[in-house]
Amino acid sequence: MAYNLLKGKKGIIFGALNNQSIAWKVAERAHAEGATLVLTNTPIAIRMGELDELAQSTGSLMIPADATSVSDLENLFVKTMEAFGGQIDFVLHSIGMSPNVRKKIPYDDLNYDFFAKTLDISALSFHKMIQTAKKLDAIKEWGSVVALSYIAAQRTLYEYNDMADAKAVLESIARSFGYIYGREKHVRINTISQSPTPTTAGQGVKGFNALIDFTERMSPLGNATADECADYCITMFSDLTKKVTMQNLFHDGGFSSMGMSARAMTQYNKSLECKECNKNPLNSDGDI
Ligand SMILES: NC(=O)c1ccc[n+]([C@@H]2O[C@H](COP(=O)([O-])OP(=O)(O)OC[C@H]3O[C@@H](n4cnc5c(N)ncnc54)[C@H](O)[C@@H]3O)[C@@H](O)[C@H]2O)c1
Repeated sequence: MAYNLLKGKKGIIFGALNNQSIAWKVAERAHAEGATLVLTNTPIAIRMGELDELAQSTGSLMIPADATSVSDLENLFVKTMEAFGGQIDFVLHSIGMSPNVRKKIPYDDLNYDFFAKTLDISALSFHKMIQTAKKLDAIKEWGSVVALSYIAAQRTLYEYNDMADAKAVLESIARSFGYIYGREKHVRINTISQSPTPTTAGQGVKGFNALIDFTERMSPLGNATADECADYCITMFSDLTKKVTMQNLFHDGGFSSMGMSARAMTQYNKSLECKECNKNPLNSDGDI
């Protein structure tokens, strides 16, 4: 059901790769709510991915940009403003990648060139994006910028690796830049901390299936899906949330406030009852 929450608004969506991507769902939902969009991703993702299909179904323009490149970002914002005939109302940063995670390099043996890449792609790109937009005065007064985060910024989750550090930086950028952009232009900046979600990036994390099962059992409302995340993003882009800024907003069915649930305890008890597991509860990968 659509409510016309974004009627007449114009936005840029970073990070739709395929129809599992959270950004893909946000683009579809924003279009249904009346927004006009520019879709962006790296040149290679645009060439190899399925973004054409989304651009067609939402009537959007596609402009490639590597979010770590300031010149690409300048080109993106300038071309978007030309196409829109003015400033932008909202921006979604839905970007994450860790070469250490991809290559299964553990946190106590990190490759530092890869670590720098993780931080650049997954966190500094958010700063570069906002700084470029501000210099070009690309975002309208009371505009809204949202980035997607994960609870590993606050709590240690097995195998999330250097992405945890990237998410902590990402959330800090939302606060630091949220103050400056809010003070000067009333632009609001927030992060949404989403449940584990079966996307290309999500499934790249080792042990993802166990993690998503655990958070499902722990969350009173269950895991939040990509579609539900899109709904939340729409409210953050709308005029209904004008005074929300510099926040990390948990969208996780209650997981972040839980310690132990009955459903998780039941499952945990099953492993305690297993004699074989008691002898040797962890295998060489540290998995149960
Ligand atoms: N899937 C989950 O479990 C989960 C949970 C919480 C938060 N998130 C966050 O949601 C966001 C979107 O991820 P997703 O799960 O939809 O996966 P996804 O793989 O569909 O999206 C990640 C996107 O990042 C893009 N990207 C990578 N490097 C880039 C660069 N240099 N410039 C521009 N774009 C680049 C990819 O092309 C891809 O489109 C990420 O920030 C991720 O960390 C995901």
